Amino acid sequence: MAVQNIAIQPFEGQKPGTSGLRKKTRVFMEPGFLEAFVQSIFQATGGGQGKTYTLGGDGRYFNKQAIQTILKMAAANGAKRVIVGQNGLLSTPASSHLIRLNKTDGGFILSASHNPGGLDEDFGLKFNAANGGPAPEAMTEAMYAASQTIESYAISDADDVDLSVCQPTRLDGMQVDVIDPVADYHDLMRELFDFDAIRGLFASGFTMVFDAMHAVTGPYAKAIIEGDLGAAPGSVRNAVPLEDFGGGHPDPNPIWAKELMTAVMGSDAPDFGAASDGDGDRNMITGRGIYVSPSDSLAVLAANATAAPAYAKGLAGIARSTPTSAAADRVADALGIEAFETPTGWKFFGNLLDAGRVTICGEESAGTGSDHVREKDGLWAVLLWLNILAVRKTSVAEILATHWQRYGRDYYSRHDYEALEVSKANAVMEQIRGQLGDLGGQQICGLTVSHADEFAYEDPIDGSISRNQGLRIYFEGARAVLRLSGTGTQGATLRVYLEIYEPANGDHSQEPQAALAPLRDAVRLLGRFDDLLGRSEPDVIT
Ligand code: G1P
Ligand code: ZN
Repeated sequence: MAVQNIAIQPFEGQKPGTSGLRKKTRVFMEPGFLEAFVQSIFQATGGGQGKTYTLGGDGRYFNKQAIQTILKMAAANGAKRVIVGQNGLLSTPASSHLIRLNKTDGGFILSASHNPGGLDEDFGLKFNAANGGPAPEAMTEAMYAASQTIESYAISDADDVDLSVCQPTRLDGMQVDVIDPVADYHDLMRELFDFDAIRGLFASGFTMVFDAMHAVTGPYAKAIIEGDLGAAPGSVRNAVPLEDFGGGHPDPNPIWAKELMTAVMGSDAPDFGAASDGDGDRNMITGRGIYVSPSDSLAVLAANATAAPAYAKGLAGIARSTPTSAAADRVADALGIEAFETPTGWKFFGNLLDAGRVTICGEESAGTGSDHVREKDGLWAVLLWLNILAVRKTSVAEILATHWQRYGRDYYSRHDYEALEVSKANAVMEQIRGQLGDLGGQQICGLTVSHADEFAYEDPIDGSISRNQGLRIYFEGARAVLRLSGTGTQGATLRVYLEIYEPANGDHSQEPQAALAPLRDAVRLLGRFDDLLGRSEPDVIT
């Protein structure tokens, strides 16, 4: 078959955000749009000649077509081999693992994560580097630069590859291995955790519900949780990946995983409940009658990680993104290990993990993971919780209560103001940015500001500096962070992160929104939300 070089004009807006390039599906489907970005990736990473890649996605609308395009472009760019998940499916953590396992030069992941899927919804593409982690900033900047001067892309005119059968095949001179998306990942989980202990837990009558939200983790959870660990059939719900995720948001939080929340808060609740997102890197954890905030989950996992064989020797360090609560820092402090605060986005954990400085990382946005891959990993978090529950032989509620008694509780919540006019969102940020230097010592809504700054991160490994990573207002015993989302596809989203610390001997039984009310009011006043946004109430509270 022949390689075609198709002339093309640069597209605007091919700038990767917090996690790859995300756009409306129709934008990705515009003639040449996907192709231009893929060619820019090849160009920014030294070309495709002789390279090996993984390729797969979360199964959303346009996933399969995009995969055929990328395969044909990889062949035309001289790639040697591409490993593709059967039916085009690969969870993000499984992709990361396959890149590392097969020592590929990187991987293409097709997903817009927890954003809805469909012709009128969202699509995304991100490239992971040879370490298995999201492309670092220098690489994404090079992709963007390439996209602005692109003149043509290369594509083979070969036929589509049959993705329905696991088998090796060829596309022109390139080897294509269609593989079972679950098997290697399953093996890795078996190495990390005490599967016998977890089997014993289920055999003793322990019950759980895992909501795969019609997204990619369905097949993984079925095979591992029901098939291998012996959870009762039906424990994994919404397990068949659908192109539109059944019309829902595959976003594991109490708002979008309502079905799960209803199950765990009901009278006949299971002992444990969990959910994962579109591409399988996020997680939500609940126990009977209780929701575990992601910041708390990170802290609890770190504090109890030695229950699992992979972490039995202890942790090197713990990293959290800046908006994530300080609960994990308290655990690091008690363990006498390093704690790191990084900008939002998993890519910032990569260097710390590669250098062996941290073992466990997490973000308030329902992402937790470890050095086993270079992505956050939803099912990993669920299995580590199960391993801990199997060893500690107690309930989720009890684990949280004893954690707070020892470390204190960081009441935490995120308030999102969505689909804002960009100018209004910027006005709020400017309003606060302009006051940062003067806030220290001020009293507001009964809270005293100790200091405030705009977070700039200096990577401790390579010394690179990332600026403008969020406005941080520190109060005595509390903190607020404000930043604009880098994953949205419409207007701007302002995220306000609130946290108040209640010491070990304090009252841990408050309702989080009530506990956080003074801080919430203080931020709204400082940012003049009423004037500048025309409203104070957020769209989504998690
Ligand atoms: C959001 C989350 C962030 C996460 C990213 C990708 O980014 O806040 O923690 O890493 O999705 O899953 P944001 O929209 O805030 O830029
Ligand atoms: Zn995701």
